[in-house]
Amino acid sequence: MQKPTRIAPSILSADFAKLGEEVRAVDAAGADYIHIDVMDGHFVPNITIGPDVVKALRPHSEKVFDVHLMIDPVDPYIDAFAAAGADIITAHVEAGKHTHRTLQAIRAAGVKAGISLNPATLENSIDYLYEELDLILVMSVNPGFGGQSFITSQLRKLEAIRKRIDLLGLDIDLQVDGGVNPATARQVVEAGADVLVAGSATFKGGPDAYADNIKRLRG
Ligand code: DX5
Ligand code: ZN
Repeated sequence: MQKPTRIAPSILSADFAKLGEEVRAVDAAGADYIHIDVMDGHFVPNITIGPDVVKALRPHSEKVFDVHLMIDPVDPYIDAFAAAGADIITAHVEAGKHTHRTLQAIRAAGVKAGISLNPATLENSIDYLYEELDLILVMSVNPGFGGQSFITSQLRKLEAIRKRIDLLGLDIDLQVDGGVNPATARQVVEAGADVLVAGSATFKGGPDAYADNIKRLRG
């Protein structure tokens, strides 16, 4: 069942010189999850945040820390991100050869498990993973950078995955990430998404604008 829309600001668009303050500001502005983009310069062409930064941010918010791993391999880093305070760890289905085992390892670390699909990846690539999942993340841009345009074909993928979650009757968040703004937010919710990641649309205009930005994404 699709749940009320939750907003997950991606701190990739925050001011990295004051990340703790930025996390506190979006928390106070009404964020539901704090979305943390981890990139390794190998799976994606950018390098961002590691477990030490997640650990340093943990005291700044009690909201759900939603850690999106754009790294390959995944398995050697699961325990470090769990120990750092991640509540959800999402791995890419395109990363590593044994995704099912990776998801089991994430849950074994005491953390909720998510799987992410790049725009070119078929929705049926995760058909045998649903029982291991707490979250499915549909990428609506090619991962690596904030501020890109929403890829509309991913609405069909959201619709197909929403149908399957409901058919199976499982409690799985359906998250979308990339190019989400007040206009596309409406479309993705209509297609079945219930957790919206938003980087530039949350952080534009600075701290005074965050509450209004989040409110406009919620629709
Ligand atoms: C892209 C990241 C996204 C990104 C979204 O690889 O996974 O979380 O920060 O940024 P916007 O919302 O600006 O498209
Ligand atoms: Zn992300």
